[in-house]
Formats: sequence, structure tokens, C-alpha cells
Amino acid sequence: MLERLLMASVAVFSLGAGVAGAQTIGFSQIGSESGWRAAETTVTMNEAKERGIDLRFSDAQQRQENQIAALRSFIAQGVDAILVAPVVATGWDSVLEEAAEAEIPVVLLDRMVDSSPDLYLTAVGSDLVHEGRVAGEWLVSAVNGEECRVVELQGTTGSSPAIDRKKGFEEGIAGADNIEIVRSQTGDFTRTRGKEVMESFLQAENGGADICALYAHNDDMAVGAIQAIKEAGLKPGEDILVVSIDAVPDIFQALAAGEANATVELTPNMAGPAFDALEAFFADGTMPEKFIQTESKLYTQADDPAGEYEARKDLGY
Ligand code: AHR
Repeated sequence: MLERLLMASVAVFSLGAGVAGAQTIGFSQIGSESGWRAAETTVTMNEAKERGIDLRFSDAQQRQENQIAALRSFIAQGVDAILVAPVVATGWDSVLEEAAEAEIPVVLLDRMVDSSPDLYLTAVGSDLVHEGRVAGEWLVSAVNGEECRVVELQGTTGSSPAIDRKKGFEEGIAGADNIEIVRSQTGDFTRTRGKEVMESFLQAENGGADICALYAHNDDMAVGAIQAIKEAGLKPGEDILVVSIDAVPDIFQALAAGEANATVELTPNMAGPAFDALEAFFADGTMPEKFIQTESKLYTQADDPAGEYEARKDLGY
């Protein structure tokens, strides 16, 4: 349905206004829970500026109802397209149908929804299951057959990265009977909650003596947890291995200091591919792939973390 409506809108758009690209784009961002999220916001704003796009930004402060209200407001304003980083995966059908009815293409950034793909133009993101699998496989090889009791800090409950990174990690360690996830709780992708939940894990696990590794669904929670491990008198990166996801500057500092062991990169540049797809779509109706996948690279202490920190430190994280 969306494709039919959108093709009609392309015809009207190019014949009527004579405009080659989308000029006004609404962006509903989740909030600022992590360094990675801050960088994605910065990159999106910079990309929009460079391309002469009037970006209407709305910060949902972690609440889906705020995102739905923002999307409705963008629709009422008659924007040319909408970008949304959906905080959770469910509950989007109605508002996406409203956008389709209004012939406004929607692009998902970094997180997925469980709605029909017919209701959005494309999604830009990483393979979130793969990220978790890479982290799990790294741990399997790092512990090399030794018994390993793992604690897990999950992302925001109901979000696609929390669901998929958990699944992927479990797949990565499947078959390694020496590795067991003994505790798993949400830290909501924040540094503060990561620290608090890690403190409770340490307390419940013999002061941390019974924990071999931490798997955190993002670096910010890992950084908070590293602080908790240090305050408990243990050495993160040695007494407790730390593997997480995002590749933000602070985790490279921790890797360089030997306090973290591995991270899987998630690029904050989701907007570049999204704007490219929209430009091609508005130029001649080119339909993008339904999923535009970004890379997921593993970094360890052996990958020049100090240099990686320098390369990233001014990018808006
Ligand atoms: O959706 C991507 C995740 O959201 C990032 O890994 C995390 O840091 C963020 O908050």
C-alpha cells in the first residue's frame, strides 16, 4: 500500500513543486540515554545541514507516546519525510498507517518495529542479532574452555536491540557448555543504571568472585559497570571480562587502560544512508532496499584503542 501511495506522491512532488529532494524532514529521536545516541543526533543534524535539509527535531525522552505525538505533529505540518528511531518495537501500526495515508515516507533508524514493512520506506541499522553473536563468540574464544559465569546488562526492555542482542549472544555461546548466563537484567542503556545493576550483581555473586564476565548491550552500561567493579575492589578486564556494543570513545579509553576487553561497533551515521535513500526516492521514485545494513566490527585491546579513541573523541559522542 505504502509503495502505491508513495509513487503517487513522487509524481505530484516532482511535477508540482519542481523540487529535486526532500526539503523538510521530521526526526523523532528516542532521547539521550547513551553516548552513541548523542552521536547519532549530532551526525543526523550535521548531515541535514550539509544537504540543506530543514530538519525538525523532536526528543522523546524515552517515551513512545512522545514519539507517536511527534510523528502526528510532523504529519500535520506536512513534512516531506520522517525519520524515527523507535524506542520499542511494538505499537507503531496506527501512526505509520497515518503517515502512509498522508503519503509521507518514513525511515526507521537503528531500531526495528514489528509493523508490516509496507508501512515504512526503509530501515537503516545494523544486524542486531549478529552484534550479539559476535560478542558471544568473542567470549567463547577468550575463555578458551574455562568455566565462565556471565552477568548480562540488557538494553531498554521491549527495544529491538535488547531483544536481538540477547538472542545473538545466546547463539554465540550456544554449544560452549563452560559458559552460563547466571544473571540478566535491564540497565536501560544508561551508565547510571548499568552501575546500579552491576552493584546488585556483584553483591549477589560473592562480591563478584563468582562472576567471570560481563556482557552489556551497550558501552555506556559497561562503563557504569566498570566503575562498580572497581569500587568492589576488583579489576575490570582481568577479574571480570567486559564485552559490550557500540564502540564509543569512552570504551576505547577503557580498552586502552585494560579495563574492558571487546566492543562491537555500531556506526552513529544512520542518517547518511537514510538521506541518500530519500534523495533517490524523491528524484525518480527509486525504491530503496527494505533494510540498509551498516557494518558491525569487533574491536579488542589489540586494535589500537588509544588511536580509536583519538579518531572518535570529537564526533559528538
Ligand atoms: O539502538 C541502538 C542502541 O541504542 C545503542 O546501542 C545504545 O547505546 C542506544 O541507546
